[in-house]
Amino acid sequence: MAELARHWTLDPGIDFLNHGSFGACPRPVLEAQGELRARLERQPVQFLARDLEGLLDEARGALGRFLGADPDDLACVPNATTGVNTVLRSLPLQPGDELLTTNHAYNACQNALRLRESAGVKVVVATVPWPLSSPGQVIDAVLAAATARTKLALLDHVTSPTGLIFPLPELIGRLAARGIDTLVDGAHAPGMLPLDLRGLGAAYYTGNCHKWLCAPKGAAFLHVRRDRQQGIRPLTISHGANAPRKDRSRFRLELDWTGTDDPTAFLSVPEAIDFLGSLLPGGWPALMARNRSLALRGRQILCQALGVPAPAPESMLGSLASVPLPDFTGEPWSKGVWWHPLQRALLEEHRIEAPVMIFPAHPRQLIRISAQAYNSEEQYARLASALRAELQLA
Ligand SMILES: Cc1ncc(COP(=O)(O)O)c(C=O)c1O
Repeated sequence: MAELARHWTLDPGIDFLNHGSFGACPRPVLEAQGELRARLERQPVQFLARDLEGLLDEARGALGRFLGADPDDLACVPNATTGVNTVLRSLPLQPGDELLTTNHAYNACQNALRLRESAGVKVVVATVPWPLSSPGQVIDAVLAAATARTKLALLDHVTSPTGLIFPLPELIGRLAARGIDTLVDGAHAPGMLPLDLRGLGAAYYTGNCHKWLCAPKGAAFLHVRRDRQQGIRPLTISHGANAPRKDRSRFRLELDWTGTDDPTAFLSVPEAIDFLGSLLPGGWPALMARNRSLALRGRQILCQALGVPAPAPESMLGSLASVPLPDFTGEPWSKGVWWHPLQRALLEEHRIEAPVMIFPAHPRQLIRISAQAYNSEEQYARLASALRAELQLA
């Protein structure tokens, strides 16, 4: 592990190469959250009923500066899945309307799209190839699947199975020119890529703070462009729906309180931004660049060990990278993605945590690596030899 790993509470006996799935929160940020929790429990009414609004505003202000967003356009949600569902459940769709996405979209979010099929809405899935050689292939696939009936496109900023950065500015602009709004699933983007949500101009953008920003679990946001805020309602209706207050938007009043919960994960986001930004002399830009070059190096090591060509150009990658593996020939496994036999062997025989997936558009299985501050190059070399052994290439 890298020298910076001392800041994390990760099991030192495991090469943890799957930051992408759930993130990992460093000790000082967990401590800051612990202090907030202690304060909450010392006087719950003072904290939740009187102080919370101001505390949320402070956290949202810091997050807004980090994301290039006006804090008034940001709602805190527990995770990106909730952000996606909030938008999809709010849209007034008619039978025959179409919702567009790609075959790289996260399964949970594709399910949220499909829920609207019961109302006669059609979900159209554009096939983006993988391996691929240029961002233009993403643009061509998405635009070719858009029709006059498309009401919304759900597009990933960084795709989950394949780790690709989609060319969002061009996609959002070209879809908008055809009257189509975009909901960006930016689950992986905050902390992996520099963001300017105001400039990006998507109607809706949701992102996690508990992944690459390393905030505690349950910290995420939904950014809604001002002209679309009226139509967005939370999944849970609470006091905000009939609040007489005029000093805050309905969007904020409704989404800021959806019932009693522990808000300390979101309130710890400023600490996560400051702490991660203090790890390297060059701050956040240096951390993002370090993680990206480590992911690229890790991918090179794997491609070389497995004898496969790089499946995507480096320009389309951040700190996640996927590499195709030989065909999967084993028995179907019934316990779900976390129990893929190869993934299990990596963990149980080699003490390496890295996800193995079957990407639907590709006949083969793939392995995805993550690179965060606590990772180091030797860990990818260990993964490469473990794969060679398990796949009997050695
Ligand atoms: C692209 C993408 N979208 C959404 C999610 C869901 O994130 P969460 O479980 O925090 O809602 C993930 C999680 O890995 C993801 O990769």
